[in-house]
Amino acid sequence: MRQVQIIGTGSYVPSKVLTNDDLAARMNTSDAWIFERTGIRTRHIAAPEEATSDLALAASLQALRMAKLEAGELEMVLVATVTPDMQTPACAVHLAHKLGAKKAFAFDIGAACAGSLFAMSVASQYIATGAVKNVLVVGAELLSRITNWEDRGSSILFGDGAGAMVLAPAEEPGRGLLALQLYSDGSAADILCIPGGGSRTPLTPESLAAQHHKVSMRGREVYKFAVTALVHAIERIVREHNLSLSEIQHVIAHQANVRILEAILERIGIPFEKAHINISRYGNTSSASVPLTLDEANRAGKLKREDLILVMAIGAGMSWGAGLIRW
Ligand code: COA
Repeated sequence: MRQVQIIGTGSYVPSKVLTNDDLAARMNTSDAWIFERTGIRTRHIAAPEEATSDLALAASLQALRMAKLEAGELEMVLVATVTPDMQTPACAVHLAHKLGAKKAFAFDIGAACAGSLFAMSVASQYIATGAVKNVLVVGAELLSRITNWEDRGSSILFGDGAGAMVLAPAEEPGRGLLALQLYSDGSAADILCIPGGGSRTPLTPESLAAQHHKVSMRGREVYKFAVTALVHAIERIVREHNLSLSEIQHVIAHQANVRILEAILERIGIPFEKAHINISRYGNTSSASVPLTLDEANRAGKLKREDLILVMAIGAGMSWGAGLIRW
């Protein structure tokens, strides 16, 4: 099996910024409450004419440029998203078309905020077996369109954005994606979901009025689940790959809530300074979060050759995972 490496990263956030004070002007909340509970100060909101594939396109072009790859050379395009441009066809198909990736087959991955890890896992299997030579993996979300702006308990969290990665066979042994372990638990499906608009509860005037096509979340339960699940996932992956936690130089985590991340890292004993944090600026951008954070750290020159990176994410499902990358 071939080893798989990330050879290019890119990211994009829309230009419009929504601050906590902007939110406080339209609902009963405050900058202090939001920042203290979540670490969020601002989030970016897409323009009305932008769709998820537009955000994905901007991030992908950057990643391709860094990878020195033409879109026409791509063999596979994966988009992790809960906010595709339309119900069908997949967002990845729209993206591949916009890129001119004529050789690539394309499909979406649905694992909510953990989607980019699930997509990375699928992509790496295709490359490892030799089925394809490269994959564009994108996490892109336009969460402002599925946010229930009448719910102060969840609407404060979300933002729009995209992150992209180009994956290809590693050129040197020992570098690249060392491991990726994924988990799902559907018994917790109701603590974070969009209940309407699917086959269970199709859209009706009543379900639309009840905001069933928007995110519904029991925040405290999500918080507790996330901490327990990710602590277990990290401890297992490090143990099974005969590494020690102290060898990890960087933590690239889904930016759901900075308090969740603090609790996880404290429990497993990784210094918080090793985590790359941008949630104060972007909020929770779901599947975009990990590749966006990875791209920022990469472009800032913070990731050095052979550094060990821990990646982790959790989202609706619940779906979650942890991975180890030797940069
Ligand atoms: N501003 C002010 N007060 C708010 C508020 C807001 N935006 N949202 C909720 N409150 C109030 C509640 O009404 C409640 O008031 P009450 O005690 O008078 O009933 C109080 O704050 C506590 O609510 P609770 O929901 O228990 O708050 P919390 O401490 O759990 O914080 C979250 C809420 C959403 C910040 C937190 O639960 C969280 O981040 N959970 C994880 C969510 C997440 O990461 N989801 C995505 C996973 S991918």
